[in-house]
Amino acid sequence: MAPAVERDPLEMEVRERPLPAHVGIIMDGNGRWAEERGLPRLEGHREGSNSVREVTRTARRIGVQALTLYAFSAQNWSRPADEVAGLMDLLREYLASERQEILENGIRLDAIGELERLPRFVREPLDSVREASARNRGMVLTLALSYGGQEEIAAAAEELVRRARAGRLPPGPIDVETFASALWTGGLPPVDLVIRTSGETRVSNFLLWQSAYAEFIFVDTLWPEFRARQFLEAVLEYQKRERRFGLTSAQLPK
Ligand code: FPP
Repeated sequence: MAPAVERDPLEMEVRERPLPAHVGIIMDGNGRWAEERGLPRLEGHREGSNSVREVTRTARRIGVQALTLYAFSAQNWSRPADEVAGLMDLLREYLASERQEILENGIRLDAIGELERLPRFVREPLDSVREASARNRGMVLTLALSYGGQEEIAAAAEELVRRARAGRLPPGPIDVETFASALWTGGLPPVDLVIRTSGETRVSNFLLWQSAYAEFIFVDTLWPEFRARQFLEAVLEYQKRERRFGLTSAQLPK
C-alpha cells in the first residue's frame, strides 16, 4: 500500500512543507449525508467512522503529531435517544475494530471530555485501548467525547483551585502555561489547524483555548465524504497560509 500512496503528487507536496503539529477536526455533516440518501442518520455516522479511519491513517502516515477528533459533544446528549444510543454503539464497535491497527501503528489513543458520563460499554474498551497504547509515540489520537470547550475551561479552573488548596500552586497570578497544564489536553501541543466539514462556519465549543492561534479551514464536503484527499488538500491550504501570531508580516523570519 505505502509505495503507491507515497507517489501521490499531493501527498508528496504536503510532505515537503512544514506540517501542522496538532490538527483538530469538527466532523460535521453525517446526518445530512444520510438524509440526502434517504437513509437513517445513523448510517451517516457509520460512514463517518470510515472517514475517521482513513483520515487517521493519512495523518499518521504523513507525520502529524496529534490529531483530535470531535466525536461527541457535551451538548450531543440532548439528541434523540436512539441517535445517542446508536453513536455509543458505533464508538464501541470502532474501539474494537481499530484496536489492533492503533497498536500496530504506534498510535497513542486518548480521550478528553466528561468521560464519566459515557456508558460503561464504551468507557471500558476506551480505557483498555488507552492503557494498551499509553507508551506509543507515533501520533496521539484524541477522541473528544462528551466534550465541551467551556466545560473544559471550567474544569481547569476547578483543578487549579484543588492544586492551590493542596499547596501545589502558590497564591498569585496564574500564567497561560499554568492554566494550559490544567486543561484536559494538558500534554498536547497547541492546535495549529482546525478543520470543519459540511459548510458550517462555527466553532461549536471545540478546543476554545487550544485553538487561540489555529488556522481554521471550513470545507463544504460532508464528513462521510471527507477522506485522505480532502484531508491532504486542507493541510496543503494550511501550509500556504502565513501565520503571524500577533506580529506583522515584516517581523516574521524569512
Ligand atoms: C456531526 O454530524 C457528527 C457527530 C455528532 C458525530 C460524529 C461521529 C462520527 C464521525 C462517527 C463515530 C466516531 C468515531 C470516532 C468512530 P451531524 O450528525 O451533526 O450532521 P448534520 O449536521 O448533517 O445533521
